[in-house]
Amino acid sequence: MWSIQRILFFVIASIVIAECKTINNARHEVRKFPGNFRFGAATASYQVEGAWDEDGKSENIWDHITHTNPCVVKDCSNGDIADDSYHQYKRDVEMMRELGLDFYRFSLSWTRILPTSFPDKINEAGVQYYNNLIDEMLKYNIKPMVTLYHWDLPQKLQEMGGWTNPNIIDWYSDYARVAFELFGDRVKDWITINEPLQVCYHGYGDNSLAPLLNIKGVADYMCAKNLLLAHAKAYHIYDKEFRPTQGGSIFISLSAQWHDTEHEEFADAAKDANEFTWEIYANPIFSDTGDFPEVMKKRVAAKSIEQGLYRSRLPEFTAEEIDYIRGSSDYFGLNHYSTKYVYRNESVFGYYESPSFYDDMELVTYTKNEWKIGESQFTKFVPWGFYKLLTEIKEAFGNPPVVITENGFATYGGLDDEDRVTYYKHYINSMLDAIEDGSDVRGYTAWSLMDNYEWLQGYTERFGLYEVDYESAERTRTPRKSAFVYKQILRTRELDMHYEPDTDVMTIDKGH
Ligand SMILES: *[C@@H]1O[C@H](CO)[C@@H](O)[C@H](O)[C@H]1NC(C)=O
Repeated sequence: MWSIQRILFFVIASIVIAECKTINNARHEVRKFPGNFRFGAATASYQVEGAWDEDGKSENIWDHITHTNPCVVKDCSNGDIADDSYHQYKRDVEMMRELGLDFYRFSLSWTRILPTSFPDKINEAGVQYYNNLIDEMLKYNIKPMVTLYHWDLPQKLQEMGGWTNPNIIDWYSDYARVAFELFGDRVKDWITINEPLQVCYHGYGDNSLAPLLNIKGVADYMCAKNLLLAHAKAYHIYDKEFRPTQGGSIFISLSAQWHDTEHEEFADAAKDANEFTWEIYANPIFSDTGDFPEVMKKRVAAKSIEQGLYRSRLPEFTAEEIDYIRGSSDYFGLNHYSTKYVYRNESVFGYYESPSFYDDMELVTYTKNEWKIGESQFTKFVPWGFYKLLTEIKEAFGNPPVVITENGFATYGGLDDEDRVTYYKHYINSMLDAIEDGSDVRGYTAWSLMDNYEWLQGYTERFGLYEVDYESAERTRTPRKSAFVYKQILRTRELDMHYEPDTDVMTIDKGH
């Protein structure tokens, strides 16, 4: 028997199908990318390499916290083996070829290359691993995009204060110089530092990433200043000493989530949320004036005095330092995942621990239930936020060339990742809207090539185009539906919102 619901379903479905056809006829159904647009996928050393103490590598802050305090991680796991990419790099490159990537973004492990943290001793075996990976990629014309620092600070440097110690500016830029010398003949895209907000706020001002310092509203700001100067120093070293012969580019990757509001009265609060969370790093580098955002300088200074301090908890830059940092990035590297709404009213005051970054920001963030697709708490589905963010970057910072260095969606596993496919299609579609409206976006990087160690979420949150089997010794990688969809985008250089892949066999196209 046909229930009335079923009959209704078919009636409605037929109407929807008919409707879609009209819409598709009215406007283009597949969208083209600009001619020289480049596509990649990304990972990071601690999240994939494993081999944590092999061949002379020394301890970094993630080795340290996961070994001394394992259950700060959701599943009490660690990156000791992770995806075993230290041994499986040929399979990694094979996956890049299957997808047809133009470039692959990976990061170098500082303590694998410099076990003393300093350039006095270069670990040949560690260098060999990266040479093998880079050379294997180049064989198939896949360009390396290399992140110098993706969160795995040498533990020794952490014990000396890490990013709160101004000596980090030299420690980090010495390491950067070694990397330019070792790999710059073949690496033409360098990313200095991945996600300063995560490094400084989550690691130093909070306890949600290593080193779990949680010294709120103080250590996070000290870190911000030193990190920007360290980034700028690496930029200038490359620019003056290596670029003339090596001819590559160097830039920073900022994580920027879009903050918006449902009520006009909170527009200032939404603006502040963007200033505090990402313009704190974007303004010093990409604005005409340089320096931390005005609103932040004023707010933190006023609160600091109120709190009985003699000076602002947000350190100042000298005029010379402002000049040194301003303009020190060839691209705006952008890691984007999602959007939050904010509000600000009386309830905000006294709500957060004081002092703290959130107390300084004076607002509350929230998300909407209807933004949730799939099971994971991690990523919400708000593609229009990506468009608005790209538009803000264009308008606030003089339309800098942008490379999307991360964008992606978490699931709890499974090959049929329809939610991830929906996410990618709609976020890429929003990016194309922004490009059509004048944003200068040059490339897009999917996070991630494969499942990997998701920091304090361990192996519970899965971001991969390829699923990794953590039960198997070789960490077998299997393409998900999203891998086939991404491959089609790269193969055709078009976004087809209705493309349904045949997910039986993954092959390598001719020329890859
Ligand atoms: C502040 O705004 C939130 C969200 O609109 C609301 O739930 C709360 O009751 C407000 N509090 C005060 C004190 O106005």
